[in-house]
Amino acid sequence: MIELKTPDEIDRMRSAGLITARALDAVRRAARVGVRLDELDAVAAEVIAAAGAEPLFLHYQPGPAPSPYPGVTCLSVNDAVVHGIPNGYALAAGDLVSVDCGARRLGWSGDAAISFTVGEHPDPTVAERDAALIRTTQAALDAGIAAARPGARLGDVAHAIGEVARDAGYGLMADHGGHGIGREMHEAPHVPNEGRPGRGVPLRPGLVLALEPMLIAGGTDAYVVDPDGWTLRTADGSRAAHIEHTVAITEHGPEVLTDQRNVVGGLAGVL
Ligand code: MF3
Ligand code: CO
Repeated sequence: MIELKTPDEIDRMRSAGLITARALDAVRRAARVGVRLDELDAVAAEVIAAAGAEPLFLHYQPGPAPSPYPGVTCLSVNDAVVHGIPNGYALAAGDLVSVDCGARRLGWSGDAAISFTVGEHPDPTVAERDAALIRTTQAALDAGIAAARPGARLGDVAHAIGEVARDAGYGLMADHGGHGIGREMHEAPHVPNEGRPGRGVPLRPGLVLALEPMLIAGGTDAYVVDPDGWTLRTADGSRAAHIEHTVAITEHGPEVLTDQRNVVGGLAGVL
């Protein structure tokens, strides 16, 4: 069942979203060559705790997962697409990092992800390719957000995301997409990253969706699971980018609840 949120509930989700955005912003600023992934996870944990919120991912265990998720963030480096575990790996020059993070406050959730590179890759063609991949992933998300208007359908959002990715020749992570979000991180509906315009459930004010394109540089969609049981890597070994926002559909159009541009000064109203 798809649950619509009241304006009051969306207010609370705005608060969870802002905390999520703040944690991601802090991780982005802390991420430098030589910094370990577990150190970045601790940065996010601290921001979330200081805001009086709870990490959304820690101990999460969906059906097929082998063990409860051990981190506050997912940190997926280079060929890791999503669900990378924050381990002792130290970032190297030119690494492409995707950071996924979520927070719950007063029972309501926020979920978002960013992708960026650290330092300078020794091979400028790799650096250029990474920049294009990240730019296109952001463009795919932006197109999905723009399509998330009342009166449109879920297929319009899926189509908008997928078209940007495919037109640029990228792969789209198989079997994965966005989702409804509210009290739970994963609620109905599932939001595919590819679809047919005009199809699927109608988008109404109060629907809140996490949109999350996962683009694969090599142009294929296949992935493999790491021995750790969580990390999902591209099957072709090419790099991937993942960018996500929690987006509320309001009668005026889409509202991004996890916008990092709201972080500076914006948190005063939340704490
Ligand atoms: N943002 C992701 C998702 O929507 C990450 C959560 S996976 C977790 O699926 F297990 F680490 F929580
Ligand atoms: Co998500």
